[in-house]
Amino acid sequence: MSKKILVTGGSGYIGSHTVVELQQSGFEVVVIDNLSNSTARIIDQIGRITGKKPRFYEMDLCNEAALRVFFRENQDLAAIIHFAAFKAVSESVENPLKYYHNNLVSLIFLLRFMEGFQIPNLVFSSSCTVYGQPETLPVTEQAPVKQAFSPYGNTKQISEEIIEDSVKASPVNAISLRYFNPIGAHESGLIGELPIGIPNNLVPFITQTAIGKREKLMVFGDDYDTPDGTAIRDYIHVVDLAKAHVVAVERLLRNENEHNFEVFNLGTGKGTSVMEAILAFEKVTGMKLNYEITGRRMGDVPQVWADTTMANLKLGWKAQKGLEEMMTSAWLWEKNLAAGILES
Ligand code: WQD
Repeated sequence: MSKKILVTGGSGYIGSHTVVELQQSGFEVVVIDNLSNSTARIIDQIGRITGKKPRFYEMDLCNEAALRVFFRENQDLAAIIHFAAFKAVSESVENPLKYYHNNLVSLIFLLRFMEGFQIPNLVFSSSCTVYGQPETLPVTEQAPVKQAFSPYGNTKQISEEIIEDSVKASPVNAISLRYFNPIGAHESGLIGELPIGIPNNLVPFITQTAIGKREKLMVFGDDYDTPDGTAIRDYIHVVDLAKAHVVAVERLLRNENEHNFEVFNLGTGKGTSVMEAILAFEKVTGMKLNYEITGRRMGDVPQVWADTTMANLKLGWKAQKGLEEMMTSAWLWEKNLAAGILES
C-alpha cells in the first residue's frame, strides 16, 4: 500500500515537479491548490509525465471549513509537503497584509489539523531569503536569520518559528527546506515555471526575451563587488530541488530525523553571476540575448550561495544538474509554452 502524501501548492512550479518525483518514487499524492498562481492544466501534464494524475482539490487553505472536510476524507496522510503561499517579493511590499494573512493563516490551519488528525510529518518550503545578505559565504544553516528584506521573506521567517514552536508541543516532526534560486524545468518540457504577467525572476525573463515576449532583459546593476560586477546567486535545477523533497519526506517517514525541527539549505553550493547566467543561456541556445545594464534593484542582496554540507551529509542529497542543463530545460519549456502546450 503506497504511503499517501498531501502536496499543497502542487500545481505550482516547485510543487508540480515534486509531485512528479513523489509519484515516480511510489507515493500516492493528493494536491490542494487554489490556482491563484497556477493552472489545473499542470495537473493534467503531471499525468502525462507519470501516467497517473494526482487527486486534485481546488481549494483555499485559508478556508477552515473546506480544510476540515478535506482532512476528514484524507485521514490516512503520512506527510504533508507545504508549498502553497504567495511569493512575489515586490507584491508583498505593496500589500503586506495579503501576504501575512495568506501565508500565516494557511500554515496555522494546516498545523492545527495535523495535530487534530494525527498527521505526523511536515516538509516546509522556505527560502534563503531568510538570511538576507549573509556576513560570510557560503551561507550555512547556522547563519543568523536577519531582518527580512520584504514581508514575503518575513512570512518565511515567521512560518519557520511557528513550525518550530508548534512541533515542540506536538508529536509532529518537521523539516524546513531553504531554497536558493530554483530555475529550469522538467526534461519532458511538459511542466515548468508559469510566471503570471511580467516575470520578477531572472530566468523566465531571459527565456521570454529570447522567445520575443519581452523586448530586452534589464540587468539590475553591474557595479557590485563581484568578479564581473553583477550580482551572484546559487541557481539550482528545480528537479534537483524536487528530489530533495522526496528524500526529506522519506527521512521523516523512517524516523531518521535527529530533532523534531530540522533545517536544510538546498542549493548547488556554487555562486553564479547574472552575466554568467546570460552567457550560459546564449551558449546552449546559440542565441544572442538582448539585454541592457541598468541600475540596481531595490532589496537585492549582492551575493549569496549555499553551504550544502548538511543536506549532503544528513539527507544524502546533492544537486546533480549544472547551469547549462538548467538553461536548456528552461528554454525547451518556453518554446513549448509559445507553441500552446497548455492550450491543447
Ligand atoms: C536573481 C538575480 C537580480 C530579474 C527571488 C526571491 C527569493 C526566491 C527566488 C521565492 C538578481 C537579477 C532579475 C531581471 C536581473 N523566491 N535580475 N534582471 O531576487 O535572487 O530571489 O526569487 O522563494 O525569495 O527573493 O531572484 O531571479 O529575481 O534575481 O538582473 O529582470 O537576477 O538583480 O541579482 P532573487 P531573481
